[in-house]
Amino acid sequence: MDAFSTAIRVASHEQHTEAESSSFMSDLLGGRLGVDAYARYTEQLWFVYRALEDAAEALAGDPVAGPFIRPELMRVAEIERDLAHLRGPSWRETLVALPATRAYAARVAECAAAWPGGYVAHHYTRYLGDLSGGQIIRDRAERAWGFARKGDGVRFYVFADISNPAAFKREYRGLLDAIAADDLEKQRIIDECKRAFDYNGAVFRELGAEFPLSA
Ligand code: HEM
Repeated sequence: MDAFSTAIRVASHEQHTEAESSSFMSDLLGGRLGVDAYARYTEQLWFVYRALEDAAEALAGDPVAGPFIRPELMRVAEIERDLAHLRGPSWRETLVALPATRAYAARVAECAAAWPGGYVAHHYTRYLGDLSGGQIIRDRAERAWGFARKGDGVRFYVFADISNPAAFKREYRGLLDAIAADDLEKQRIIDECKRAFDYNGAVFRELGAEFPLSA
């Protein structure tokens, strides 16, 4: 197989394009939806990152997943600051996971508990995306809803402890290339990455149904 970092990117490329062009994402980033839709989306992220990051400590010493666990990636505290800004101090009281979000978070937790390679698939799908397209989303959100640049509301997208995202991504791809997995396991991880994109697509579909455009 090609370098694993290349194989996983190529294998998920088509679904990436679908995710980018999903109607919820394009409406959101096209400025056609209100800040409530953005807040609802951010709430869904809270459930997913709780599942990813609740497992971090237990996986830190794992030979497969351990190298990927990096404190500078952790997002839950940032999401919570964004939610306090978007929903107010009692944001927890109104927080509800969509069915697709519940399924997604449950799958992440399941991988975290039983299959470190699967956890890496979910880790890659979210964090490498956040470091990449996330920066485009942040820029659009700041413009659409008037958040302070890199401030409350978009802190999820701000990796304060990663000064050079391009270098960080290169290093991350190096970790993927060196992953302690044989070719069969790598293929399984790629398959799980595709599932991770499916879960994201399902969340977008449910959000799209909740925030339809009148057009
Ligand atoms: C409108 C929404 C999105 C935009 C504009 C966007 C944009 C981008 C861009 C420009 C890159 C390339 C970065 C590079 O070459 O270094 C990228 C990479 C990536 N994106 Fe997205 N993205 C979006 C949504 C998503 C979603 C929903 C996911 C999955 C949950 C995702 C996952 C990824 C991943 C995993 C990569 C890294 C690919 C690799 O280099 O291995 N993206 N994105």
